[in-house]
Amino acid sequence: MELPKIHSITKKILVALLGGFLLLFLLFHATANLFILRHDDGAWYSAFCHFMGTNWLVKIFEIILLGVIALHILLTLWLAFTNRLARPVRYHQSQRSTTHTTSKLMVWTGILIFVCLILHFSDFYFVKLGWVKGEYMVKTEKLQNEEIMGLVNFAQQMQVTPEDLVNELENNALQYSEANDDEAEVKNYIASMREKLEVINIVQRASEENNFSEDKQWIRHLTYDERQTLRKVLPESDPEPDFYYMARNKFQSLYIVVMYLLFFVVVFFHLRHAFPSAFQTLGLNNYKYNNIIEVLGRIYTWLVCLMFAVVPILVYLGL
Ligand code: HEM
Repeated sequence: MELPKIHSITKKILVALLGGFLLLFLLFHATANLFILRHDDGAWYSAFCHFMGTNWLVKIFEIILLGVIALHILLTLWLAFTNRLARPVRYHQSQRSTTHTTSKLMVWTGILIFVCLILHFSDFYFVKLGWVKGEYMVKTEKLQNEEIMGLVNFAQQMQVTPEDLVNELENNALQYSEANDDEAEVKNYIASMREKLEVINIVQRASEENNFSEDKQWIRHLTYDERQTLRKVLPESDPEPDFYYMARNKFQSLYIVVMYLLFFVVVFFHLRHAFPSAFQTLGLNNYKYNNIIEVLGRIYTWLVCLMFAVVPILVYLGL
């Protein structure tokens, strides 16, 4: 199969532009992650994730982001491949130029980042897509359904538990339906009551285990099965991944913390070279600004990687 012909300079410029976009995204991502460090029961981070998960502009941005990542990788591999094809016979003497070593390093660190990203996505992003099970949270107000509240209030008036109330209703209703020949309808009604009861049980368990956020806006730590129940009984409740607790739980494990820190080391080496080379490819460097670009690159790389690294370290240390 023939690859379409795109001049390698065009490919390089595209890689640099897409890379520039990713540099901005990483700064944003690392900054947002700092909310995980707040001891506010996830109030800020959950509000941020809720906005990111529900705003349609952000959803479009997410698709663009994933497209940019894919295109950035494909173009880099394509460039490396065509460069190799252009010189099928290797040099006898190994190349020692820094440009050559740097671009080789970029390809390898890029591949490693891709592998780490897949693992990172299976920790978080794939949970949002429903491909991996996680922990979930739901807005308390979204469970205040009229029928459910009615059932709870009625049980309270009768001074029984909602469960006993539904059992009692079931016994009476079945006797009534046998006499009146509308058994199927009554069974459907009882089944829908049992489903509402499941929601009440979830809320009850959450309140007993203190899974409400401090401001009672969210019910947290819902299991996958509980989320499925809520999605079935109250589709509008729309439970979402509880990324605050998932991140805090994950970083209790030294193994995961170390894996993430290794991930950031690879990101460090990639960014360290990505920043100045993007400027060079776009022709934005000249002898006057080279030093400034170099210093900005260093500051950017250290800042982003340290912001990423403090989250697992401080959470692990319980700070
Ligand atoms: C302490 C380190 C990190 C934490 C706690 C973290 C956490 C998360 C979380 C919770 C999500 C899902 C957010 C959502 O979909 O609403 C996510 C998505 C993502 N992360 Fe990270 N992340 C970390 C480091 C990184 C690094 C180093 C990279 C890239 C080199 C990265 C790239 C991404 C990408 C591309 C997405 C998917 C796009 C998105 O949902 O915004 N993350 N991360």
